[in-house]
Amino acid sequence: MALQSALLTFAAGIAAATNVVHYPPAQSNINNLTFALTGTGAPGIFTSSTTPDRNYGEYNWCNMPHVRTREYKTPSRDFTLEYVEIIQRHHKRTPYASNTFFKEDVTWSCTGEGPVVYGKGPSGVSSDVTEIQWQAFRDAQNPWVNSVGPGFVGTTCQLPQITTEGIVDSHTHGTDLRAVYASRLGLGLHLDPSIAKIRVTNNVITSQVAGGLVKGLFPATGNAAVFIQSSTFDSLEPTYSCPTADSLRSSYTSGSSNWTSHLTAAAPLYAKLDSVSGTSNPDGGGWHTSFDHYYDNLSAKLCHGKKLPCSVNDTSLCVTQDEANTVFRLGNWEYSYYFRDAPDSTKYAALHYGAWFLELKGHLQAVVAGQSKIRYFHNIAHDGSVSPVLGFLQIANMVWPGMGSEVVFELYKKKNDHFLRVLWGGQPMVTSTPMGTLDMIPVQTMLDYIDSMVGSGADLFAACHS
Ligand SMILES: *[C@@H]1O[C@H](CO)[C@@H](O)[C@H](O)[C@H]1NC(C)=O
Ligand SMILES: *[C@@H]1O[C@H](CO)[C@@H](O)[C@H](O)[C@H]1NC(C)=O
Ligand SMILES: *[C@@H]1O[C@H](CO)[C@@H](O)[C@H](O)[C@H]1NC(C)=O
Ligand SMILES: *[C@@H]1O[C@H](CO)[C@@H](O)[C@H](O)[C@H]1NC(C)=O
Repeated sequence: MALQSALLTFAAGIAAATNVVHYPPAQSNINNLTFALTGTGAPGIFTSSTTPDRNYGEYNWCNMPHVRTREYKTPSRDFTLEYVEIIQRHHKRTPYASNTFFKEDVTWSCTGEGPVVYGKGPSGVSSDVTEIQWQAFRDAQNPWVNSVGPGFVGTTCQLPQITTEGIVDSHTHGTDLRAVYASRLGLGLHLDPSIAKIRVTNNVITSQVAGGLVKGLFPATGNAAVFIQSSTFDSLEPTYSCPTADSLRSSYTSGSSNWTSHLTAAAPLYAKLDSVSGTSNPDGGGWHTSFDHYYDNLSAKLCHGKKLPCSVNDTSLCVTQDEANTVFRLGNWEYSYYFRDAPDSTKYAALHYGAWFLELKGHLQAVVAGQSKIRYFHNIAHDGSVSPVLGFLQIANMVWPGMGSEVVFELYKKKNDHFLRVLWGGQPMVTSTPMGTLDMIPVQTMLDYIDSMVGSGADLFAACHS
């Protein structure tokens, strides 16, 4: 009996992993390591949330392109829009605490701009409570307060938190989506939970974005319930446990010279950045296992109009714009490698993000079967969520999904058939798969693709633990 069930589990695990086919991405400057190391310029806009209209669609790390009326392509009248599901990364924020060991001279302040966090009941006194806003502080009597960089001594910011400008970007994002979808889907001024849902992760910055976004999407909404899954199984961030996925990713990153060679090649750049920041090499915080921390540290400053940092000991020793641009090219090269170029990246996305795709498949099937009244479903998540979506769909040109980056799944009906259009940055997504550009493909094609990648829920669960 035990043997039999072990065999069944094994067979199921095989089913979820063997049908995955990796279709390599297109060649571009993004995944060209020579260009990342020795080329010039930033791979897009890194200094402002604003993209000029004539260039809208261009990569903007501070505020990625999304669906807007100006660029939206309305399909022919034969197609009726029945359901829209969106997944987006949160908008711009302060750095994470883990990225702040950088000891330099740029400071952040968030007084009066903190997250609002409080409990509320359905009626009576409990429903009419005082709004509570967080303001970070430190007391010098606490001997641990000096373990962060000087830039953060005295900061009133939570690390991380969505900045005031990031809340404004969230609101604009909601307003732009409303202008396109409210009339097409029959969405009212209030968030009506019987037809629309908003979902967040356990990281509070996604709820901070929701505050601005929902006000833009449903302007008459005073307060809203948003959906959240337990962090023990959340499919959106995602935080569900999948040891097979984790070991697969280690084998093609830290365990492979395909990955480590770019870190070696970038040694002179690292030496300069370390001399400004005072970071030791090796360090205990992950500054030298990828460019993630330097990328985040430098880009958050530029996106908020701050200068590039100089050493606290030597004001003439500063990170140059060329060095920052090289960090940004390398960061994008890394994301293309993690999610597209590495041959096992597709299998990784299937395991790591399969649960969310099973949920998406369920939502689409319920609408097609006429069993769901939900017309709009909006997921607010992270780069660690949007990236595996792009990896799963095998986008042709991968990038590091910047702030507010968005993937939209539009389900249309034409006569008795259903079609799917998937938008990335507001335009139909080009993939390297046989599905090609995801522009009005039969919805069944996508459902079959999800099946081939994930199998059933039981298959996925078994494959994650095999
Ligand atoms: C990669 O970039 C380098 C430097 O710009 C260029 O010489 C080379 O042709 C590129 N390789 C490909 C495959 O495009
Ligand atoms: C390293 O790259 C080579 C060439 O693309 C590929 O064949 C090999 O599978 C890669 N190894 C890993 C662990 O990704
Ligand atoms: C600044 O100088 C002090 C004293 O020599 C040293 O401990 C610290 O690491 C230096 N910081 C940086 C960023 O170089
Ligand atoms: C980088 O680290 C320094 C020092 O902790 C901090 O002052 C700065 O704000 C950080 N910036 C980012 C974007 O992480």
